[in-house]
Amino acid sequence: MPLEIVRNDITKMTVDAIVNAANESLLGGGGVDGAIHYVAGPELLAECKTLGGCKTGKAKITGGYNLPAKYVIHTVGPIYEDGKHGEKALLESCYRESLALAKVHNCETVAFPLISSGVYGYPKDQALKVAIDVISDFLLENEMKVYIVIFDKAAYKISEKLFSDIAEYIDDNYVDEHTDYRRESMRMNVPMQASIGLFEADLCECKAMLSDDDLDAKLKQIDESFSQMLLRKIDEKGMTDAECYKKANIDRKLFSKIRSDVHYKPSKPTAIAFAISLELTLSETEDMLKKARFALSHSNKFDIIIEYFISKGNYNIFEINEALFAFDQSLLGA
Ligand code: APR
Repeated sequence: MPLEIVRNDITKMTVDAIVNAANESLLGGGGVDGAIHYVAGPELLAECKTLGGCKTGKAKITGGYNLPAKYVIHTVGPIYEDGKHGEKALLESCYRESLALAKVHNCETVAFPLISSGVYGYPKDQALKVAIDVISDFLLENEMKVYIVIFDKAAYKISEKLFSDIAEYIDDNYVDEHTDYRRESMRMNVPMQASIGLFEADLCECKAMLSDDDLDAKLKQIDESFSQMLLRKIDEKGMTDAECYKKANIDRKLFSKIRSDVHYKPSKPTAIAFAISLELTLSETEDMLKKARFALSHSNKFDIIIEYFISKGNYNIFEINEALFAFDQSLLGA
């Protein structure tokens, strides 16, 4: 998963570079700036003193010293006033400049805090959206693993409206593990045998409607593997492989494994991430999951949240991950 949102203390992240939300003096401060200087030790300040400060929206790099990270990229976010003083453009520039510096220094892994969302007052949900948008654009063209490190849960909140919508959807659809579908179908007076009969009747009817070639294609699809279905769907959608796996927030290595092994069995979150990337309908998603021997289940909050977004036609994997994070579920992607 090239972009991952994690809850952690950034000074603990073992990555090539961590980004510091500094001020223009680069001489330390509170918040994440204070934490980074505290762990890195006095040598960090000594190097910062040689840099001659940093303009808002720009970034400079130093060693990591006692931090587990090799480098610290210091960037200065905008002080938020009302959103009408160019704050968003300056914040976007912080992420862009920091990523460019990381790339020049051959960093393969980078961790960002939510720049400007503390002392500088940038609304946290807007700060997160800026971070996700700029980083995911960068990742469409570059190979890197990027973490957005959330220090406190409050920093990572989806809008109240979206949260309550999803909570309501979960309430309406969630059945606990003890509900047995057989029992449920008995309650609906549809004995299992009859439902199989219904399925066969549908199959005969659908055969009658299809031409011979369509029928051949359909029958061929019945025994195609997950990987074959994925590649077929990518072609049908007119996507390139890269567009598909980037949009699924899946890294290239995993995709090439799936592509080269016709019997590859992905994890459920990976299979769902591809369904989201291909913008499949709910029934197409179920078909694709079935190829990997999975199904969306109403006794699983993760699945219900996915079903919520697909039913709303919202395939933005980062918004879906924000919602999954808010409901303490694992995130989409490998
Ligand atoms: N790890 C990860 N994130 C952290 C940590 C940490 N150890 N400590 C704080 N944060 C988070 C905060 O919760 C906030 O969401 O970092 C985000 C940025 O908050 P600040 O550190 O206050 O940075 P910012 O809002 O950009 O203000 C910068 O504050 O510390 C001073 O010298 C700094 O003057 C500058 C100003």
